[in-house]
Amino acid sequence: MSNQSDSSTPNSRRDFLGGAIGVAAGVAAGVAAGAGAAALLGGASAALAQPPAGAPVGGPPAGGPPGNPQANTGPRLFRAEVEIRHCEVEGTIPSDLNGAFYRVGPDAQFPLRQGNIPFDGEGHVGMFRIKNGRVDYKTRFVRNERWEAQDKAGKLLFPMYRNPMMDDPSVKGLSRSTANTHIINHKNLLLALKEDSPPSAMDLLTLEMVDPVFKFDGQLNSQTFTAHPKIDSRTGNMVAFGYESEGFGSDVVTAFEITPQGKKVWEAKVKVPYVGMLHDFAVTDNYVVLYVIPMAINHVQMQEGGIHWNWDPALTTFFGAFRRDGNGSDIRWFEGPHRSATHVMGAWDDNGRIFVDVEMSESNPFPFMPMKDGSRWDPVKGASFITRLSANMNDKSVNGYTIERLSPWQGALPRQDDRYNTQHYRYGFLGSRDINAPQGQQGNACYVRFDHSTGKQDYWNAGPGASLAECCFAPKSATSAEGEGYLVGVVTRQNEGGRTDFVILDAQHLADGPVATVRLPVRNPGQIHGWWVREDQMPQA
Ligand SMILES: [Fe+2]
Repeated sequence: MSNQSDSSTPNSRRDFLGGAIGVAAGVAAGVAAGAGAAALLGGASAALAQPPAGAPVGGPPAGGPPGNPQANTGPRLFRAEVEIRHCEVEGTIPSDLNGAFYRVGPDAQFPLRQGNIPFDGEGHVGMFRIKNGRVDYKTRFVRNERWEAQDKAGKLLFPMYRNPMMDDPSVKGLSRSTANTHIINHKNLLLALKEDSPPSAMDLLTLEMVDPVFKFDGQLNSQTFTAHPKIDSRTGNMVAFGYESEGFGSDVVTAFEITPQGKKVWEAKVKVPYVGMLHDFAVTDNYVVLYVIPMAINHVQMQEGGIHWNWDPALTTFFGAFRRDGNGSDIRWFEGPHRSATHVMGAWDDNGRIFVDVEMSESNPFPFMPMKDGSRWDPVKGASFITRLSANMNDKSVNGYTIERLSPWQGALPRQDDRYNTQHYRYGFLGSRDINAPQGQQGNACYVRFDHSTGKQDYWNAGPGASLAECCFAPKSATSAEGEGYLVGVVTRQNEGGRTDFVILDAQHLADGPVATVRLPVRNPGQIHGWWVREDQMPQA
């Protein structure tokens, strides 16, 4: 382990972790086995109903439960970069699981400024390299322009979430990317993503920085790049977009498609009804779908030193779809009720009708995001459930889209077998609370598999004191059947000081529990998203 350090600051650990990524972990303690329940995070009044994007499921903050005096005795920052060779494994690593699991989350270099939110903080990447039954673990900060500038200065230079007006003058012209949201492979590179900036490219094996501002060899015609590109199920092409793509506050979205070899083969530009958070999107065989939610830009709030977004209860939602072979001028906007949806489980189109499965809540899902009308955050309306949205591109007489809740399982970070990003799919996965816990008892954290063809859900209950980060599906091979493979994810053991396990489950037999558990001797920074890279996609050392 190296680079672990402390920092004396006005922020207590509870303030920092409890108010930052720890909210995520803490939320989990409050995720209830059904809508209507909530929990209080320590002495704070925020009642939490679901993890924010990227939050683990289950357990209190890693620093200890709210109110626990031990919570304030440890370091206030994490920042430990770790390398462990020949990790300790319980069970047997499957012989057909070779490749690497990558994860990323915010791990603030310096304490967050008062009023900032847990989506800020510099990206820290972890890699579980699995080959022939051996597991090596390594983590590195994303040493991009932001990280390097702040490291050199020894202080925060980008003090407020997506508010360049608050930046230190010395960073003018530098990328603001935290690179803390998602991580994908492209052309033998590992791209660390933050949706307000171009990617930062790292070496897949060493995690060393290759290009801190990666623009696809000059082809990126957008100032931003989504944290959630999709891989076309037929071609392997990457379909991506950038919003606020023509500059800060821009209402232009640029969508594009890039081959596995790195050649841009399509681009379109559209304008959104209002500038809101476009965190994820959907891609089908024929369409690109944007979903505009009332997490809207607030320039006044930023001028007063606040963050980029606020939740505007007066706004409706817009489901926008346009063809992948056009220039965007064919976009149709279907208006819908006030809702939130930030992540897609899967999407497809069938004879002009588009289906998009999302996690959906009735209102603001993030307790730390300001409400424009000053109202109190509502944990019940902020709870998310897997929901199917559908719109008919052929029926010009309809201006709305349909909404159908698919399940009572509650959670915010759905995944699928990523080889089915753009086509009709059968299996989805979600971290959630055990909804079958005895009445009156809070359910443990679970990984759930949804079988959309039967309507059944299977799950693994991680047991008391466990928090679960977002899971990820790893196929047995490039050609295995949908869902034939492993579900992998990181477990935080709250009752073991926040120690971390990496679990590998047979995705077709979740209830049997992990086939292998990689036991790490340390805590780890929080995760927003994770990504599996198959052995055939890895560079050979
Ligand atoms: Fe996300």
